[in-house]
Amino acid sequence: MIRPAELIQRKRDGGELSAAEVTELVLAYARDEVPDYQMAAFCMAVFFRGLTAAETDALTDALIRSGDTVDLSPIGRRIVDKHSTGGVGDKTSIVLGPVVAACGVPFAKMSGRGLGHTGGTLDKLESIPGFRVELEIDEFLAQVREVGMAIVSTTADLVPADKRLYGLRDVTGTVDIIPLIASSIMSKKIAGGADAIVLDVKVGDGAFMKTVESARELAAAMVELGRRAGREVVCELTDMDQPLGRAVGNALEVREAVETLRGDGPPDLVELVVGAAGHLLALSDLGIDESEGRRRAQQTLTDGTGIAAYEGWVEAQGGDPNLDALATAPVTKPVPAPQSDYVQAIATTAVGEAALHLGAGRVRKEDAIDHAVGILCRAKRGDRVEQGQPLAEVHARDEETATRAVAEVTAAYTLGEEPPEPQPLVLDVLA
Ligand code: URA
Repeated sequence: MIRPAELIQRKRDGGELSAAEVTELVLAYARDEVPDYQMAAFCMAVFFRGLTAAETDALTDALIRSGDTVDLSPIGRRIVDKHSTGGVGDKTSIVLGPVVAACGVPFAKMSGRGLGHTGGTLDKLESIPGFRVELEIDEFLAQVREVGMAIVSTTADLVPADKRLYGLRDVTGTVDIIPLIASSIMSKKIAGGADAIVLDVKVGDGAFMKTVESARELAAAMVELGRRAGREVVCELTDMDQPLGRAVGNALEVREAVETLRGDGPPDLVELVVGAAGHLLALSDLGIDESEGRRRAQQTLTDGTGIAAYEGWVEAQGGDPNLDALATAPVTKPVPAPQSDYVQAIATTAVGEAALHLGAGRVRKEDAIDHAVGILCRAKRGDRVEQGQPLAEVHARDEETATRAVAEVTAAYTLGEEPPEPQPLVLDVLA
């Protein structure tokens, strides 16, 4: 029997735990035999001392073993999945899934809800009337086989120890710890059953990882965990120093995703989708390389096959794919530029928080979401704006919340006489 206090002390003093000790600690925690206060102390010791690759692997494995895993092999194909560490305006999966499916590659994704200022794919999908995110595993498999894709909620039995641990970390200052983030994400991806995974690690103001160096460290840890579990993983580091695309907020983002699938998307979103699809198609069983993958992905955005795949998918999950079905907010207000200048920076977290205050996200876990509200960033970094021209547009439930959001979004934009240095969207790729 392990003594948690001894393991906490050893980690606190810079020692290493054996794989068996890590496993026992995590599984005992999952069985309620280790209390939250000891697990919190352990996480804090990890914050200061880190985990070795072997400890991180043991932690990931124990998290997976705390619950069920999904076996996608009955589909009989190589299955691909994608995950983002979370950003503002990140609706990539809603475009990428149909693009990949339209190219003939099965896409099976289990997704999460929004966290703090970052939105979650499930919340976005639930702005589509009728859309069901909770499918039984059998339904999930059947849909991937028949329709080519599914995006569903993770089940309560998938990596339950991570749910508990994440909740604990969230309130004990132990979220932003690279080995804990890597094992949390990869345990869910590995348990989700896909053979090949593209990870999008967001970097910048709106992301967990504020610097390219820390993002690279997280990426390397996740690629290694995937390799140890026999999964192919490609990790892209992408810019989150401004919202992705223009729309921030659930129904607004679905609308933008649909416009993108119709060939009319914002350039950064298109670039990200085509790049990620290139990697996924190259990792699939099609036997093509990345540049051919990109070419085929690009084609689905203009030949109607991407939007057709979207409609088939949404209908299969009970949703109405018609854009007119999406909720719209009763109050819209422009955010005028205070002077004529270049957009030098957009404080991305502040835009995410403004959307949160409008009701697009949750302050507490049990809060309901207003799917209609959000922000459209009309001007992006590097754009020239004239005084009075809209920097953005606020979509709100009422005048009061709209006025507050206009002030918040105005403050989030930094304008200046000089255009900023151009910044690439994809900062690095690790495989
Ligand atoms: N996302 C996760 O799933 N886990 C983390 O620890 C951080 C982000």
